[in-house]
Amino acid sequence: MNILLLGAGGREHALAWKLAQSPRCTTLWASPGNPGIAEVIGDLNARRSCTTPGACTAIDLTDHAAVKTFCKAQDIGLVVVGPEAPLVDGLADSLRGAGIAVFGPGKAAAQLEGSKGFTKDMCTRAGIPTAGYVRARSAAEAHAAIAGFSLPVVIKADGLAAGKGVVIPQTAEEAAATIDDMFGGAFGGAGAEVVIEEFLEGEEVSLFALTDGSAIVAFGSAQDHKRVGEGDTGPNTGGMGAYSPAPVLTAELEARAMAEIIAPTVAAMAEAGMPYSGVLFAGLMLTARGPKLIEYNCRFGDPECQVLMMRLESDLVDLLEACARGELAAAEPTRLSDEHAITVVMAAKGYPGTPASGGLIENLSAAEAHGAKVFHAGTATDGTGALVAKGGRVLNVTATGSSLQEARDRAYAALADIRFDDGFWRGDIGWRELARQSA
Ligand code: AMP
Ligand code: GLY
Repeated sequence: MNILLLGAGGREHALAWKLAQSPRCTTLWASPGNPGIAEVIGDLNARRSCTTPGACTAIDLTDHAAVKTFCKAQDIGLVVVGPEAPLVDGLADSLRGAGIAVFGPGKAAAQLEGSKGFTKDMCTRAGIPTAGYVRARSAAEAHAAIAGFSLPVVIKADGLAAGKGVVIPQTAEEAAATIDDMFGGAFGGAGAEVVIEEFLEGEEVSLFALTDGSAIVAFGSAQDHKRVGEGDTGPNTGGMGAYSPAPVLTAELEARAMAEIIAPTVAAMAEAGMPYSGVLFAGLMLTARGPKLIEYNCRFGDPECQVLMMRLESDLVDLLEACARGELAAAEPTRLSDEHAITVVMAAKGYPGTPASGGLIENLSAAEAHGAKVFHAGTATDGTGALVAKGGRVLNVTATGSSLQEARDRAYAALADIRFDDGFWRGDIGWRELARQSA
């Protein structure tokens, strides 16, 4: 089968790496892809001696007709969508309308990520545990509603805001200013409506599930490190590192989250006439009263995907195709290894502000000789063919081990071999779990 993978980050490199391991993947295309994905595709082309070799190719993903034309021309049997923007934009609907199988939800179902208010209302209808909330469509409504919450309070722009649309004011003055900022356009259209939420106490964890709209398969847990600085300090980022599994989500808590959060969501979406297919990425808060939903994403996490792919033993093409075709109930049981996987993000200095661009990267093969896998997140090749940084998060140094400590030691040993003078990273990925284990 010919596969088209959409996206350009470390998540997509990990997906490409796993897709290409499937005997069912004949030709792999990526748009736009990155140098790491190009390497995966080059290896696959060589192994398959393809008559029409795959490649990284630039298709305008907002031009749905152009994506359809490409799929028809290359006889694409499955499109795998990495990031949320094309899903929220309805690309999956356009492709399905043309008879092309797609992994990822349509526009209506992608509202689970695209609108925080939509998700909160769905939780209310389905009795899903989540923080108490009010939706406000004007600054006046928001100012009036805020009085009903104690501090700290959580204020969220309703729409997609690249992970930056959540503010947690500690004082009433800060809360009032946040409301004015959001309705004043600080987050563009995403802040035209806000959700005000009760602040939840607990530890955060991510839970993944695959679904075709009715059948559901648990796909593992992970813990991200969103703050830029060690000890979870400094501004929020897309994620500076992750590990899987996250033992803080015990088997019992995971079963509870599947039964109380994931399953009722899939049922509520089907009932509302917008069945959800793809991966459901639930951000959970483990509160004293059990797991509560913080948010949904309609795609794999980045960098959580990288650690999940390291543990996945099943054929990824089979699984994603089964979701796309509504055949998940008949798929082989999903196997994730018992190993622990960890990924450490090497970012360009300046991230999450303005990252230094063009920094030289060397010695990746020496790093991989330690048994680690280095996924490209924001890299490019310059005019001389050298690998350089292009973006905030640049590399994901990823390793497995029989314990989290072993995986961590392997990843950091590999990282020490990489030459990236413009880069920085957190030295404490996995710290919460490692501290628990040594306590
Ligand atoms: P979100 O984009 O909804 O995941 O929110 C970003 C971050 O804000 C989360 O990862 C949490 O750390 C924090 N957050 C969001 N909602 C809440 C809440 N109700 N209580 C406490 N922290 C929250
Ligand atoms: N790492 C968090 C996310 O992908 O949303």
